[in-house]
Amino acid sequence: MTNKRQKLIEQYPINWDEKKIKTFQTQLLDWYDANKRDLPWRQTKNPYYIWISEIMLQQTQVNTVIPYYERFIKELPTIKDLAEVEESELMGLWQGLGYYSRVRNMQFAAQQVMADFNGEMPNTLEGLLSLKGIGPYTAGAIGSIAFNLPEPALDGNLMRIVARLFEIDRDITLNKTKNEFTGILYQLIDPERPGDFNQALMDIGATIMTPTNYQPEDSPIKEFDQSYQNNTSHLYPVKKKKTKATKHHRIAYAIRNQKGEWLMRKHNDKELLTGLWHFPMVEVNVVMEGATSSELIEPLVDHLDESIDVGELKLDRSLIMEEEEGFELLPTFAKVKHVFSHRIWQVQVIPFLLDGAPDLSEEDFKWVSIQALESLPVSTLQQKLFNSIVSDRE
Ligand code: ADE
Repeated sequence: MTNKRQKLIEQYPINWDEKKIKTFQTQLLDWYDANKRDLPWRQTKNPYYIWISEIMLQQTQVNTVIPYYERFIKELPTIKDLAEVEESELMGLWQGLGYYSRVRNMQFAAQQVMADFNGEMPNTLEGLLSLKGIGPYTAGAIGSIAFNLPEPALDGNLMRIVARLFEIDRDITLNKTKNEFTGILYQLIDPERPGDFNQALMDIGATIMTPTNYQPEDSPIKEFDQSYQNNTSHLYPVKKKKTKATKHHRIAYAIRNQKGEWLMRKHNDKELLTGLWHFPMVEVNVVMEGATSSELIEPLVDHLDESIDVGELKLDRSLIMEEEEGFELLPTFAKVKHVFSHRIWQVQVIPFLLDGAPDLSEEDFKWVSIQALESLPVSTLQQKLFNSIVSDRE
């Protein structure tokens, strides 16, 4: 880890001199000594207890955690107790906290400690990270609080504080940015009191430099806070929102004429996928399950806009999966799901048979034989649509 530490420090140097760093540490820790929250896991150095508190605090508020923490260490006072406890008793101790995989992982990790570390919690970052359910944040927290390792415990609070201190506008959800923050914190952390340093920042983040307090007058580190000085705190941290995938329903019309040719259309140069061929497709608001054939034709007629006379279309039953013999047939249409970036397309393929083989007036459209279709340039989606109606059936 020293290698990684050195590399990150070199990669992300801060422009503070030693005196400034020392003053920062002193102001932060003096504030912590006078104002720290009195929490039960702060009265111990037992790494097992610190571990329990950190796992409980991951998805649960401090006030909720306190009674659970106290009961847990009373009932299971040693790592061996946790490794050996019956599952039902363990679940009872966690009941109400939720995210039960947290405690299952803890029991697995306790068994790892018994088997691989002689029953003693490992006292290195690598050792801690080898345990199930312990990632960089938890390893940093346990390492710094219980073993005085100069490791940051980079949670949301610390990321917000560092982003504001240095006006860092990189996306905090990216690992690269987390590495940058870790590199900066390696330069700021007090090697004498790393656990208190981390917990001081956690407390400031939870009570003073909160997500919505942009002028934290009471902050003991405001003179170091570039965003406070520049009135830009509201801009940090930068967190890219995950774009939610949106669902879209479409109908693809697989239309055959009496010669067995398919109606295909070419994307023009104003559209995506220019030059590729596709079945005529229409976006609809709902899935058209159970619709009559004239209802199904309607969106197509609007879409084709008289470029072809579709008066003689009827459902091509030979290409429809019909459910059970002897019942009235409700056609079920092949459905194809296609995902690209943030869109999910649910495409129903509706096969129609056309009387005759009318000429097509628009050059975007053409009738294509099944052999020619094989060599026509098409997108992956169109290939999937084609496969959904012709495979298994011919
Ligand atoms: N949240 C996570 N760890 C914490 C700690 N050690 N003290 C206070 N809040 C925390």
